[in-house]
Amino acid sequence: MSISKFFKAAGIMVLLVALACIYTGYANASADEGKKIFAGKKCGDCHKTEGPAAEKTFEDKLKKKGPDLWFAGSKFKKEWLGEWMENPQAIRPLEYNSIEKTNPGNHPKLAKKEAGDVADYLMTLTSKDVQTGAVQEGQSNIQGKLAFEKKVSCFSCHKYKKLDKVVGGLTGPSLADAGKRLQGDWIYAYLKNPKAFIPVKRMPVYENIINDGEMKGISQYVTTFK
Ligand code: HEC
Ligand code: HEC
Repeated sequence: MSISKFFKAAGIMVLLVALACIYTGYANASADEGKKIFAGKKCGDCHKTEGPAAEKTFEDKLKKKGPDLWFAGSKFKKEWLGEWMENPQAIRPLEYNSIEKTNPGNHPKLAKKEAGDVADYLMTLTSKDVQTGAVQEGQSNIQGKLAFEKKVSCFSCHKYKKLDKVVGGLTGPSLADAGKRLQGDWIYAYLKNPKAFIPVKRMPVYENIINDGEMKGISQYVTTFK
């Protein structure tokens, strides 16, 4: 390499590193701002942002006003989070903690900039119980599909799209757009050890019903739902 080429390459490297630093600084500032917005809008009245989960009994669960967000950064996809907080749509077909009332879909809204900042903040809340890189996202998985549809009938409680139609039960959150919303690694961690995230649950524990490969396969399959 000639000297001038070397200096050109070095210059580009310095520029890239500087841009990366500016970007990281920007994301941190935005997460700090998001944390302030979250507190100011009293989102914490309904959402827990510090783990571990606190509920021990069904009564504790029924007292909760909204799902925990202390593992939001491991559970959700950032782009979806920002878009949803700006324009929230019902995720659970039934009202939170109810088994009979329809979800009114009246979640508080944030302006675009606020939603982006809060998404940056929520993405900093991760759980050590989620192993990253365990699930290959977005690729169809036949073993997972069979388990989801036949062996354990996940769709008896969860909506999903089949032949372009949304079908499935009402008890659990809709999985119809789960591939845009959820991280495959979190789905797998949740299936393996649901109590780490939701200790008092209405979803069955699948530990001795499906094996590890099937759990990974199902998680991969669910990330294809868009
Ligand atoms: C009165 C209680 C209440 C308040 C206040 C509230 N939320 Fe929620 N939040 C809920 C409920 C209930 C859900 C479930 C909605 C659904 O399933 O459609 C939810 C869902 C969410 C979700 C998706 C989580 C999941 O597991 O599905 C996020 C993210 C969220 N809220 C962020 C916020 C932010 C940010 C604020 C403040 C601007 C806020 N919430 C204020 C009750 C509340
Ligand atoms: C008996 C009903 C039922 C069955 C069957 C069931 N689930 Fe669930 N699932 C739930 C409920 C209820 C929740 C909400 C958490 C809670 O309250 O326990 C949930 C939560 C989830 C979530 C988190 C969704 C979110 O947005 O928070 C995923 C992912 C999930 N289930 C996947 C599955 C898969 C995969 C299967 C099949 C292996 C399955 N579920 C079978 C009831 C069920």
